[in-house]
Amino acid sequence: MVNVRRSVPADLPGLMRVERESFPTPWSEESVLSFQNEPEHRLCYTATDDREAEVVGYLALQYVDDEAELCNIAVLPARRGGGIGALLIDTAVDFCSRKSIRLLHLEVRENNAPAIALYRRKGFYPVGIRRGYYADSGEDAFLFSRIIEHESPSDTG
Ligand SMILES: CC(C)(COP(=O)(O)OP(=O)(O)OC[C@H]1O[C@@H](n2cnc3c(N)ncnc32)[C@H](O)[C@@H]1OP(=O)(O)O)[C@@H](O)C(=O)NCCC(=O)NCCS
Repeated sequence: MVNVRRSVPADLPGLMRVERESFPTPWSEESVLSFQNEPEHRLCYTATDDREAEVVGYLALQYVDDEAELCNIAVLPARRGGGIGALLIDTAVDFCSRKSIRLLHLEVRENNAPAIALYRRKGFYPVGIRRGYYADSGEDAFLFSRIIEHESPSDTG
């Protein structure tokens, strides 16, 4: 059983492990902390296993006014394909909905098929492309966005 909650300072080593195991050029500790320390307009969610013994994934989000950006998402390689990525996105979307955020944006490498499949399944649609955006590989960045639905007063009865 996996649980998703707001990150706490003690998660940092686990978040850094997820980063190192997920990306050839992982974010620095400073970058992760800039989301994890809960500054205004930024936040981090941590996915843990059932006993909270292990950080298995995380998501970093930033927002301003009624728009947000999903800045990072990663799951430990051994735990992928089990719905943890989907759970992290659902949690971020719930947060956006509560904050009356209207649009959630992200960018992804053109060759990152698992991430693109997950984003499409979660209602993101392509809105643009940045040619040769990633300096290390020359890959394009695909830009995706998702509209966040809000309950209208009549929906709540
Ligand atoms: C993207 C990522 C977070 C997804 O996490 P996850 O826990 O595996 O996500 P889920 O299990 O919810 O869903 C994974 C989806 O990818 C699909 N998938 C897995 N490998 C795939 C592949 N090689 N090609 C296409 N789809 C693939 C799965 O089938 C699943 O979709 P489905 O449920 O429709 O079948 C994870 O792959 C990851 O950490 N990747 C490395 C970091 C990264 O690239 N992050 C994104 C930066 S933009």
